[in-house]
Amino acid sequence: LRKAPLQGKRALVTSGPTYEPIDPVRYIANRSSGKQGHAIAAALARLGAETILVSGPTREPDPLGVTVHHIESAREMLGACEAALPVDIAVCAAAVADWRVADASDQKLKKDGSGSAPTLQLATNPDILAGLAAAGAKRPKLVIGFAAETEKLIEHAQGKLARKGCDWIIANDVSSGSGTFGGDSNLVHLITRSGAEAWPRMSKLEIADRLAQRIAETVSTTTHQAHRP
Ligand code: C5P
Repeated sequence: LRKAPLQGKRALVTSGPTYEPIDPVRYIANRSSGKQGHAIAAALARLGAETILVSGPTREPDPLGVTVHHIESAREMLGACEAALPVDIAVCAAAVADWRVADASDQKLKKDGSGSAPTLQLATNPDILAGLAAAGAKRPKLVIGFAAETEKLIEHAQGKLARKGCDWIIANDVSSGSGTFGGDSNLVHLITRSGAEAWPRMSKLEIADRLAQRIAETVSTTTHQAHRP
């Protein structure tokens, strides 16, 4: 039997939306389904990686053979990711909220009777992908992010690759008519420092398998080089 290509490797995947509390009963969220991130975690585990999935609230079942940490807010996601280090591979597929409510209330906000609405002060959330890519000695060997773009897909994704300091970006065409959002298929380009590669439209499951395969090829080559005298 051939050894699983990612056996002995640790992988961290983020998936789903984050929920940012306004008060104990209300929150700000987004429409991420978690389908792509969960599929990637499952695919990495199938190739033998010890896989940790940090997920916001989704309808997706926990993938087989994956350790799942369920969180709600971006700050909880960051904490769970930091606790998972060190890992060899990090794939950030979560749709992390850019902002949270600065001072979430401990008590349910009440209507004051005057008909006026409260003003929510927002604060910027930590960027988990950029943080992992800048983690110094703890930096995963391969840090991969996603970029959802509606225009200038490759240009914007290359900018994101540089800004976030990650190794690869999966650039996702979410323009209207692309059928990506909430759907089962995806149209992506793999952006690396050496260029952009167009992948044919395929299901999120197929993208996950192809990405996991590429990760396995890359991580095993790097290991061999590292062991060369
Ligand atoms: O900056 P933008 O949200 O477009 O970047 C998307 C990529 O960055 C995704 O891989 C997402 O998981 C990651 N991200 C993150 N933490 C944030 C915002 C985005 O990890 N606060």
